[in-house]
Order: sequence, then C-alpha cells, then structure tokens
Amino acid sequence: MPLIHPKTPRVGKRHLSLDPVFVGEGLKPVPRNEMPADSMDPNIAYQIVHDELLLDGDARLNLATFVGTWMEPQAQKLYAETFDKNMIDKDEYPQTAELEMRCANMLAHLFHSPDVSRATGCSTTGSSEAAMLGGLALKRRWQHKRRAQGKPVDRPNMVMGINVQVCWEKFCNYWDVEMRLVPMEGDRFHLSAEEAVKLCDENSIGVVAIMGSTFDGSYEPVKEICEALDEFQCKTGIDIPVHVDAASGGMIAPFLDKELEWDFRLPRVASINVSGHKYGLVYPGVGWILWRDAEALPEDLIFKVNYLGGNMPTFALNFSRPGAQIVLQYYNFLRLGFAGYTRVQQYARDVATYLSGEIEKLGMFELVTRGDELPVFAFKLKESVKNYTVYDVSSALRERGWTLPAYTFPKNRTDLAVLRVVVRAGLSHDLADMLIADIKRQLPHLQKQPMPVRDTESGGGFRH
Ligand SMILES: Cc1ncc(COP(=O)(O)O)c(C=O)c1O
Repeated sequence: MPLIHPKTPRVGKRHLSLDPVFVGEGLKPVPRNEMPADSMDPNIAYQIVHDELLLDGDARLNLATFVGTWMEPQAQKLYAETFDKNMIDKDEYPQTAELEMRCANMLAHLFHSPDVSRATGCSTTGSSEAAMLGGLALKRRWQHKRRAQGKPVDRPNMVMGINVQVCWEKFCNYWDVEMRLVPMEGDRFHLSAEEAVKLCDENSIGVVAIMGSTFDGSYEPVKEICEALDEFQCKTGIDIPVHVDAASGGMIAPFLDKELEWDFRLPRVASINVSGHKYGLVYPGVGWILWRDAEALPEDLIFKVNYLGGNMPTFALNFSRPGAQIVLQYYNFLRLGFAGYTRVQQYARDVATYLSGEIEKLGMFELVTRGDELPVFAFKLKESVKNYTVYDVSSALRERGWTLPAYTFPKNRTDLAVLRVVVRAGLSHDLADMLIADIKRQLPHLQKQPMPVRDTESGGGFRH
C-alpha cells in the first residue's frame, strides 16, 4: 500500500465521473483506484487528469513554498527538450554531466572555496538528499577518526537548533544518529553559538547551522558558532565540523550579504547544501552539496559509475533521476550571471520588507522577522486580538486564492502562532499590493467574528 497523505480521502466513489462533454459516448466506467482494464483515447485521459488537478492551489499564489514556481519561456523550452535525460547516464549524456560539474564549480566559487580545485560536490534531488549526504560524510569521518583512536563509534550525535527542517530529523532517524536539539527561548528563534557548544561532546559528528531558518527566514550565526567551536577545541581537543544548511540562504547571502562570513571562508565549515529549486530559481527537483575538500568527503562513500569508458565517481541516494533540472540550473547561471541573481534577489528582499512593513502598519499584527535576511518573514497577531486566530487569517486569505501557512513555533515557544510569507521570484510589488488589499478586505469580517473559529488542530495543515 503506498503512503497516503492522512488528509486525502481514501475512498470516494469507485469510478471516476466523466463529463459527457469531453468523453463522448461509449466509454466504459473508469475505476478510480484500480488500473482500468482497457486503454482510452489520449485526449480523454488528458482531460481527466487535467480536471483532477484543477483543485490544486495556484503555484504563483502559494506563499508557503520556498520552491521555484516560475521560469521564463526559454527555460521551459529547454526543460521540454531535456526531460528525457537521466542524470545517472553520464556515459550517454556526457554534456549534461559536464553542465553539472560547471554548476558545482560555480557554486564552489560563490561559496568562497579557498581552493576550488580541491572542492568537491554534486547535484541532488533537493536539499533533503543533500542533507543526507552531508550528514553521512560527517558520520563516516567521525567513525574513521574514532576507530583510528581505538574509541567506540556506537553513539554518534549531531547538534542543531530545534528550528531545523524535517530533513535533519530524517537524517538522524534513518542513520541512527542522536539528534541534539537546542530549543527556542524567549526571542531566540534559532541556534546560538553558546547553546550549540553546550550540547557538544566527543560523540558529536557535527553541528548544523542554517542560513536561514524555515520558521522565520532568519540566518543563524554561523561565524559565531564556528568561533565557539574553535574555543571548545582549544579547551577539550575535540574538533567538530560544521555543515551549513543553506537551502535558501545559499542563493541569497552571496548576492545580498557579501560581507557576511558563513561559508568556506570559515575553515570549520566542511560542507554546504543549497536548493537549486529554491532561490536558485529552478523548478522542483534540484539541490546541491559542496564539500570543502576531499578530506571532508570520505573516499569509501563514493561509488564509481561507467562514464565514457572510464569511471565517474558518484555519491547519491538515488540511481536514476532527472537531468533536466541541472540543465535549467546551468541556464539560469548563464542567463542571469552574478548581476542578474543580485537584481532578482534584491527585488525579492525589497518586496518582502515592503510587505512586512505594510502588514505591520495594519495595526493588529506584530512582525517576528522583517524579510531582511531571507526574503521571508513571520508575523503574529497582537496579544489584544482575542476573537480570531492566525489560522482564521490564513483561511480567510485562502478564499482569495492565497496560501499563507499558519503554525506554532516548536519547544519552548509553542505558545507563539504565526503566519509566514515566502517572497520568491514572481511575487511582484503589484501582487504584494493585491495581497495587502485582500488582507484589508478580509479583516473587517474577521473583526466581527465573536470568537476564534480555527485553531492549531482545525486550521494548521502546515508541518514543514
Ligand atoms: C533550511 C532548509 N533545509 C532543508 C530543506 C529541504 O529542502 P528540499 O525541499 O530542497 O529537500 C528546506 C526546505 O524548505 C529548508 O528550508
């Protein structure tokens, strides 16, 4: 039985109801959950599937996702030309493999690798796979070091803030690593250097620092975390590497926060992941991981696949996966260049800070973040608002087609319920004004509500 989203009704009518306008006469009933016995006209099949998808939200109005929802027509053309390419077939598609390598090199430069010729990296399906690979490399390095010292390797742990994305929970669960979480406290909504070091010991395979947090778009203090770990090493002799989860920030900070040191400029940063399909501006399906050098990625994790009669090293969880997104990533790098990415990301930050400012002016919301790190911000209702909740606001905006997730923060701030806006390419100032207009339009209805309608149970489907 496949995994089923718990909110998806599993049983509907047994057969699909087909509109006679589209299907003509004589089509036999089409079962919903079993493979139809017969084939059908492709136009009818198209119409059925197309209609099924009508109820999906509009991707452009989805302010919940970090993932690309807009690419220009030339990119779409390339996509259509390359969706048959399998990334693992490096022998058959050597040029796609070449583009992958060029992208990885460009990212190594972008992340200030001190010696790009020593850096190593690859594409992945997204930051989650990249996190698995980054975590595995840390674990294997730690195991090698411990074995060489004749020490046990049965209790690895990894230190991170409780605000980490679920991929790190998966990594720790799937690969038997104890997850050491620093909870939120007061107005500290992410990891701090001081708290990170408190949880470190000889069994720590690494510390994960996030650029920036999924919960509120804030950057974690990577440099301070590294400095605190330097000090820790001086005191204890224990050397703990840092992995930076730059799923979103990896394509924001290099363009907008050039002076901020969070990447390979910091010697303790061993590896960095970034989602090509987030602020790399590609459609879903591509992430990247970069290691500082070969020592950061143990040789025994690498497999060799046949490549032009030779052996091509690979490190991946999948075998087959689409090559088209890598082509699209290269297209974007080429097309936009540094100046183009800077313009696009600056625009997103301008829209985010403008939007957060306008929301603040409405009077009933308080900003948790302003969108001046990632172009992402979270905001809450003022304490004085008692008769509606952030879930009610989210639901009211849904009526107008907008998806704004509402959710509570984790331990120790589960009392804090927020709405979040992710500003991406495609959310223009005009659309931002339309969102403000819609919030203004819906607020009077909410203000007339005698009491809250939706709470975390009934209103929150968001679990990122
Ligand atoms: C900080 C962070 N890490 C990892 C991920 C997972 O990324 P992906 O969706 O590319 O697998 C996300 C997704 O939002 C994220 O925000």
